[in-house]
Amino acid sequence: MSLEKIGIDKIGFYTPEFYLDLADLAQARAVDPNKFKIGIGQDEQAVLPLDQDVVTMAANASAPILAPKDRSEIDLIIFASESGIDQSKAGALYLQRLLGLNQSARAFEIKEACYGATAGLQMAYDHLAAHPDSQKVLVVAADVARYGLETAGEVTQGAGAVSMLVTRAPRILALSQPTAYFSEEIMDFWRPNYSDTAFAEGKYSTEQYLRFLEIVWHDYQQKTKTQLTDFAALLFHIPFTKLGLKGLCQMTADADQETKARFLQVFETATIYNRQVGNIYTGSLYLSLLSLLQKGDLSAGAKLGLFSYGSGAVGEFFAGELQSNFESMSQLADVETLLAQRQKLTVAEYERLFKQTLPIDGSTLTIDPISQHAQFRLTGISGHQRQYK
Ligand code: HMG
Repeated sequence: MSLEKIGIDKIGFYTPEFYLDLADLAQARAVDPNKFKIGIGQDEQAVLPLDQDVVTMAANASAPILAPKDRSEIDLIIFASESGIDQSKAGALYLQRLLGLNQSARAFEIKEACYGATAGLQMAYDHLAAHPDSQKVLVVAADVARYGLETAGEVTQGAGAVSMLVTRAPRILALSQPTAYFSEEIMDFWRPNYSDTAFAEGKYSTEQYLRFLEIVWHDYQQKTKTQLTDFAALLFHIPFTKLGLKGLCQMTADADQETKARFLQVFETATIYNRQVGNIYTGSLYLSLLSLLQKGDLSAGAKLGLFSYGSGAVGEFFAGELQSNFESMSQLADVETLLAQRQKLTVAEYERLFKQTLPIDGSTLTIDPISQHAQFRLTGISGHQRQYK
């Protein structure tokens, strides 16, 4: 265990410029809007246009937070995604070129459903703890959640990327060790190579999420002797906010009313952005962190408990302590502007965008600009290579 503080120094975020109001989706699918708003706990979802993919979203999330010094000092680039664009080449390499990052760096991609970014974050911690000369690690979580039109999972779609600069003496969140983790091969959610939409055993997946939470929280308490009331906030992987709420209720079942109310109030501020963006898979827990940092009223020194879950499945419970500059550093991700710039789609427009997919037969395609505010766009495919601008 490192005696130095290591953790998140900056957080960036990007989500596409288009969204669907879930009240409109409910009407189109002949469902009571309260099922989506209350039963699922989601208000809107981001819709990915053809000129964005996980590489451009990752670059758009990272570019605004990285100063020239950061770009030259990063020596590990971890790209976490379950929506990768290539079976072989890592998204981290595109990112390195697009952002002009240091080439004396390890760059690779990792996947374990929504757990990938947490694996990356813990790997970043270990890398900095083990290499005194290493300065900075970039961990980027980028995904698009697609279940398909008129499926049960449709209401839990979304798209976005969270970028985290991990350093010593971090200004947002110092990570604590040890952590508690558990993995087991189960079929709750998966996406075979031939499908661009995920398969989910919906109810079973929610039960497994809660089972893994119980296991790692119990293990975490045993390992660290931490109590629930030591935490100022509990954060969860948020595939949809109702499931995070169930996780919170499970963890606080034996707490007094005042403690329950305190955690619930914090949970609500920590899921404001998730309600508007939807599931961004591996970035969802960190979008919730961003929501808490920007919308909550916690103080430096507050201890946060974080539950990460990736289907398949891996769960991890870990903790971090808010640092004295967390407010100004987290404001680097201009989430309010990104959300305010978004254009609302009708259900018909959303369905049209959803059906627009890239060719899978090797043909050439030129994509006219769709995103108006994004710094990085996918401009086409030529010679089996994605073209970025
Ligand atoms: P469903 O069958 O549409 O939903 O699927 P339901 O019928 O179970 O209803 C959902 C809730 O709405 C219920 O509440 C209803 O009572 C309530 P609950 O019993 O859960 O408390 N409800 C209403 N509430 C108010 N007013 C009404 C009303 N009607 C009903 N009128 C499901 C829902 C989430 C299963 C589906 O959307 C799905 O399959 N989603 C995808 C899978 C998923 O997100 N799983 C989450 C756990 S796995 C995970 O987190 C990993 C993941 O992020 C992937 C990764 O790791 O990469 C997914």
